Amino acid sequence: MEGEVLVPGCGLGHDVRAISAASPAARVLGLDIAASALEQARRFSVAGRETYQCADLFALPVELTSRFHWVFEHTCFCVIEPRQRCDYVGAITRALRPLGFLLGIFFLNPWDPGEAPDGGGPPFPVTLEELDSLFATGFELVEELNPHASYPGREGREMMRLLRKRNSF
Ligand SMILES: C[S@@+](CC[C@H](N)C(=O)[O-])C[C@H]1O[C@@H](n2cnc3c(N)ncnc32)[C@H](O)[C@@H]1O
Repeated sequence: MEGEVLVPGCGLGHDVRAISAASPAARVLGLDIAASALEQARRFSVAGRETYQCADLFALPVELTSRFHWVFEHTCFCVIEPRQRCDYVGAITRALRPLGFLLGIFFLNPWDPGEAPDGGGPPFPVTLEELDSLFATGFELVEELNPHASYPGREGREMMRLLRKRNSF
């Protein structure tokens, strides 16, 4: 990844540091609503040019608008309430520059039948059809693949998608 990279809902920042280490020229921003998570993230050794910011993705700070070449999504989408999914897509759309990329690992099916907690999550399941419909207007699907490696218990339940923001948005 190159340029400005956003990791929304970065938690302890493992992805932030992995991307920073792999892409030393990239400026990676880990964003999270939980100050306590970022406090822990900042205790890890610096991997590259990463920084962290405490903010609500749904109230994206104005200086982050149209700033990013890349957004990396991992287990932020699946923790937000399904009714907020359109707002999530809106926030990612605002954060990206035109033709910017969203690389997302989407946790499709976190629960075995009968296992889901009351209310269905988090994590909340999503179908590929719902992802298609959520991102159809503002994004083009560039590539889709099954991740080669997954956390134990997530094998076959995830889908990686590379989406590109349309120029007109
Ligand atoms: C399951 S954790 C994932 C952490 C990290 N992405 C990872 O894979 O290790 C989800 C994170 O999303 C954050 N989050 C939830 N809602 C958010 C919001 N509206 N704005 C920013 N962060 C949010 C939570 O605080 C939490 O740290």
